Amino acid sequence: MLDVQKIRKDFPILNRKVNGKPLIYFDNAATSQTPQQVIDVIVDYYTNYNANIHRGVHSLSQEATDAYEQARVKIQKHFNAKHSHEIIYTSGTTHGINLIANGFSSLLKKGDEIIVSALEHHSNIVPWQMLCERTGAVLKVIPMNQNGELVLSKFDSLLNENTKLVFVNHISNALGTINPIEYIIEKAHDIGAAVLVDGAQSCPHIKPDVQALDVDFYVCSAHKICGPTGVGMLYGKEEWLNKLPPYQGGGEMIAEVSFEKTTYADLPHKFEAGTPNVCGGIAFGAALDYMNTIGFDNIAAYENELLDYATQQLLQIEGLKIYGTAKQKTSVISFNVGNIHPYDIGTILDKMGIAVRTGHHCAQPIMDFYKIPGTIRASFMFYNTKEEIDVFIASLKKAIMMLS
Ligand code: ALA
Repeated sequence: MLDVQKIRKDFPILNRKVNGKPLIYFDNAATSQTPQQVIDVIVDYYTNYNANIHRGVHSLSQEATDAYEQARVKIQKHFNAKHSHEIIYTSGTTHGINLIANGFSSLLKKGDEIIVSALEHHSNIVPWQMLCERTGAVLKVIPMNQNGELVLSKFDSLLNENTKLVFVNHISNALGTINPIEYIIEKAHDIGAAVLVDGAQSCPHIKPDVQALDVDFYVCSAHKICGPTGVGMLYGKEEWLNKLPPYQGGGEMIAEVSFEKTTYADLPHKFEAGTPNVCGGIAFGAALDYMNTIGFDNIAAYENELLDYATQQLLQIEGLKIYGTAKQKTSVISFNVGNIHPYDIGTILDKMGIAVRTGHHCAQPIMDFYKIPGTIRASFMFYNTKEEIDVFIASLKKAIMMLS
């Protein structure tokens, strides 16, 4: 089982005060905190072997290249990809999605259909709208119900011979719903459509097996998984990545360049133009090591306890409504209290040292569905505690009294 007090010692930021109060960090769905083990890897990189990679014969460059490529293999093993060249380093989930959306520009034609879900983050809506504008393809949406679950019977009826792509998040950032991606992948494959899963919110809580899922593309960001910002990964099946054109042109993504013709490098380099975030990639690997040492089964069990504990307490508060009551959900709670604006509660909680996210969470269609401007969102990670939830509930009650 998980020893939360021991784990908390790994996170120096959890000792700090905010507005004179001990920090209670419940904004983990926006970004997770970084353990000392990962901070040490970052400091070691810049202290001892900072260099450009794949380019130098000198020792520093070799060391940095080895560490960066070893981290790619760690990522491959974590997600159980068949080949390490199916792991493309990106700057984050949004970059990965845009890379795929750009690649499909040449593969789609007018009248083709793309399916997304009503539960998507803007980063899994806007790139597909842009792709539709470029190609004449049509965007269709899997609707959701009041619990924040996708209506699968509607998904089934959207599928047809024109459907080329299906994009869905594994877990909704705004509501915490865990989507039935196994079902979605199987049904999409039955009619020959490719599937991209946005794993930004799932990777901190679940260890996806991309081969078992048989997913075509899977994307995530390191900063949600105790790693640094500015780095992430795109997994793509080898045959798909070979089919797609490069996203950006530049150094290191080429085989031969002349003014007449350029040929491209093999995977994964074809998609990795320019100097990458070398330190970020190495630290991403270290973050996965850290999370795997704790164990994803332990993480999920403990976070479910936190979710149940907080949900029960929040439901005791008069006028409080939770948005997102799916049977399968992770440790994200979105709520409002009466007519109080989410920003007002968020601002008062901050004065009490408590960090939550307020607003539309880059998911305006979900807010429109519920006819609300936004919510207060508390999101927990394995380093949070029930004692912190108690303080949060007491502080929330005080904030409600001040605003009523
Ligand atoms: N996508 C991140 C969130 O949900 C930033 O807060």
